[in-house]
Amino acid sequence: QAKKRADYLPPAFTINDVKMDVQLHPTCTRVTSEYQVERMGNHGHALTLDGDNLTLREVCIDGQPYTDYEQTDSSLVICNVADDFSLKLVTEIDPEHNQALEGLYLSAGTYCTQCEAEGFRRITYYLDRPDVLARFEVTLHGDKQHYPTLLANGNPIARGDHDDGTHWVTWQDPHPKPAYLFALVAGDFDLLEDSYTTTSGKPVKLELYVDKGKRDQGVFALESLKRAMKWDEDTFGLEYDLDIYMIVAVDFFNMGAMENKGLNIFNSKFVLADQDSATDEDFFNVESVIAHEYFHNWTGNRVTCRDWFQLSLKEGLTVFRDQQFSADMTSPLSNRIKHVRVMREHQFAEDASAMSHPIRPEEVIEMNNFYTVTVYDKGAEVIRMFHTLLGPEKFREGMDEYFRRHDGQAVTCDDFVAAMQSVTDLNLGHFALWYSQSGTPVIEVTTSYDPQTRRMDITFSQHTAPTADQKDKASLFMPVAFDCIDSAGNHYTDDDGQVRDGMFILDTAAKTLHFSDVPEPLIPVVLGNFSAPAKVENSLSAEQLLAVFQYANDTFNRWDALQSLYDWCIHQYELENQAAVDATIWQGLEQVITRESHNHELLGECLVIPSFETLCQSRQLVEVAALNTARSQFCRDFAQRLHGPLETLFKTLETGPYQYTQTAINARRCRNVVLNHLACAGDADKLLNQQFEQADNMTDSLGALKAAQGHSPSVFESLMSRFEQRWNHDPLVLDKWFGLHATTERTDILSQLSLLQQHPRFAKGNPNRVRAVIGSFAFFNTAGFHAPDGSGYQFVTDYLLKLDAVNPQVAARIVTPLTQWHNFAPDYQLLMKAQLERIANHKGLSGDLYEKVSKSLAFK
Ligand code: ARG
Ligand code: ZN
Repeated sequence: QAKKRADYLPPAFTINDVKMDVQLHPTCTRVTSEYQVERMGNHGHALTLDGDNLTLREVCIDGQPYTDYEQTDSSLVICNVADDFSLKLVTEIDPEHNQALEGLYLSAGTYCTQCEAEGFRRITYYLDRPDVLARFEVTLHGDKQHYPTLLANGNPIARGDHDDGTHWVTWQDPHPKPAYLFALVAGDFDLLEDSYTTTSGKPVKLELYVDKGKRDQGVFALESLKRAMKWDEDTFGLEYDLDIYMIVAVDFFNMGAMENKGLNIFNSKFVLADQDSATDEDFFNVESVIAHEYFHNWTGNRVTCRDWFQLSLKEGLTVFRDQQFSADMTSPLSNRIKHVRVMREHQFAEDASAMSHPIRPEEVIEMNNFYTVTVYDKGAEVIRMFHTLLGPEKFREGMDEYFRRHDGQAVTCDDFVAAMQSVTDLNLGHFALWYSQSGTPVIEVTTSYDPQTRRMDITFSQHTAPTADQKDKASLFMPVAFDCIDSAGNHYTDDDGQVRDGMFILDTAAKTLHFSDVPEPLIPVVLGNFSAPAKVENSLSAEQLLAVFQYANDTFNRWDALQSLYDWCIHQYELENQAAVDATIWQGLEQVITRESHNHELLGECLVIPSFETLCQSRQLVEVAALNTARSQFCRDFAQRLHGPLETLFKTLETGPYQYTQTAINARRCRNVVLNHLACAGDADKLLNQQFEQADNMTDSLGALKAAQGHSPSVFESLMSRFEQRWNHDPLVLDKWFGLHATTERTDILSQLSLLQQHPRFAKGNPNRVRAVIGSFAFFNTAGFHAPDGSGYQFVTDYLLKLDAVNPQVAARIVTPLTQWHNFAPDYQLLMKAQLERIANHKGLSGDLYEKVSKSLAFK
């Protein structure tokens, strides 16, 4: 069942031109496709087309009915064909009952498609692989009253009415594309229109389609699109290439969004935003996803992937591009911390699990399972390392060369590396190991100091532990940003000048830096700005960590030092050794607040105690309840001991009328982080009510709710019911409320979850609702999900078995926390594995769940 990267074969046939005619009907949509097919090379094979869930009505070759074909569950094999011919197929599909939301589906009165990775084969028989590029012309027919808007890729070239109340539109896309970029939409929308003129003077029509009545909530997305277009021209010299760019927001969508050529389809969560209904984080996400999909037009669409093992070619690169864009639009520091949190909380965990894979996977059963934090986020870290190693100018040259070589082609990660290699003397051969080796490298830092000679050695050794998919690991090529200080904050340089511009290369198992004439043991500050996706083991004392916070050059390192300090403190609590967290440490933390009180951005990050998930990364066989308790106790002490300075800080954080500017965002974030501590210290009910009452924006309303959750149950309940009343009409906003309920730690959480599922706004077919309730619980309700009697695991499993029959893609995402069983103490492991066994033994299990669950059960 598994496909292997090494088994790639070029296609036996290709399709150059596609004409499609789609007669939309809820349960019986008729698709007529005509292909110009061409044999590739010298062979006598039949033509094998992919298909899934299709009813075949007609086959014609060169205009004549044709009968020499065979059908299987997943293909149509057409025998004895010529080298060049035209093939016409008529198939029927049922969009209304398509609840997997893959292919063409009808939900909430809107037809739309999702074809990546292999959804086009649910629309018609085709060579559904990314290395077959064709020009598409698509005619849509639909009821004029219910579906006044009929969209497909490219430009509209003709339209008209039929005399039965239906109408039609023909769309032509001049750019050859793989089928996964195909899209169509039919519905009744509000339209926001705008235009953009590229640097070279080309006018582009911009159209954003949203649900009726949501116009105002689309304005920010449209503005974001224009910023992204400008940024890509300024930064990479890349302009848009069609006359029209369309974005459609839909409520039923499995993922975030999709970069279909000229016709992006978005989960409405990443389009709709206004001050009342969206948090600062929502605004940020809208801008970043809009940019991500736009940037795909070059990195993904113009240059696409040869096969799906190369997914990171477009995703790693496009995530890196959207990260750079967001950093430019907002702030580099908070963006970098965001990326690092994703890497540490999710990617490192994935790499240590049964699903471990390199950013370019070797083996896949269900491609949908490989849209992972490894392919996306670690992939982006690898691109970032190219950028770090080459510098921005050379990186840009390499990108130019990549487009010069490969525009219009379907290529591999090796092709990308080769383009980069062509602009640098650095040998990228070793570096490219990042594409094939999975697992998280650990850099261990050891020091030796001789007070007699005043010499100091700092040794860095790297190792990568074996992973589920790969036993043998080699040393990686890593850029290591490095700084070295003493306890008074003086900076030191190494004797041999191995550190250049604050960076050295670690490309062997170990490397030592030498320092002479040093008065005291120095403090190594390693991996500034997270220069490589690695873990660092650098055993610094609490005092040294505070010195790093105070004196290091790199702000990321400063933040990271405090995170390590919190982790260490919580560990003392786990050991019931609270006294080790002594007065000097509390004073040090107090000084962090008082000295940096003007720096809201830094404090907003530094006053966040590491999450349970992050803490799991530095522990093994986690005793969930014990760690959760230790963390809560530390949070309580933190809030109480630092109450004075926190309260003082809070008073300076009056944020005024809502503005979405970086200064205001930083202040709000800091304010809400501090509010949470104040609530944790107790006695903040008045403050919580007041903030909720007076908030003129969603960030502060939600900030009050989150601070009340877990600290002030009665305030929480009363604010939650007010929130529900206020937002009952808007399910997308109510998802925040669903999520808060689902993550509340309480003994009757399972009956709460059942109540939430009875809620009139809950819809089991809507992925956003399911993720808000079941996903939030499984991922973030530590005490509930890991209840010692296994009831949390059982609840999630019961739900997933039902969901899998309807929407396997979403089920396979939510099963992830269960597949992490190996992180937890033996009692938890047994209970988790018992539920995984239940899933594995379930009749009619999807390939999506099968792949993840069977791997997880076979682990270790
Ligand atoms: N290409 C899309 C994006 O990253 C995501 C598609 C995800 N597809 C899937 N089958 N999970 O923008
Ligand atoms: Zn993408």
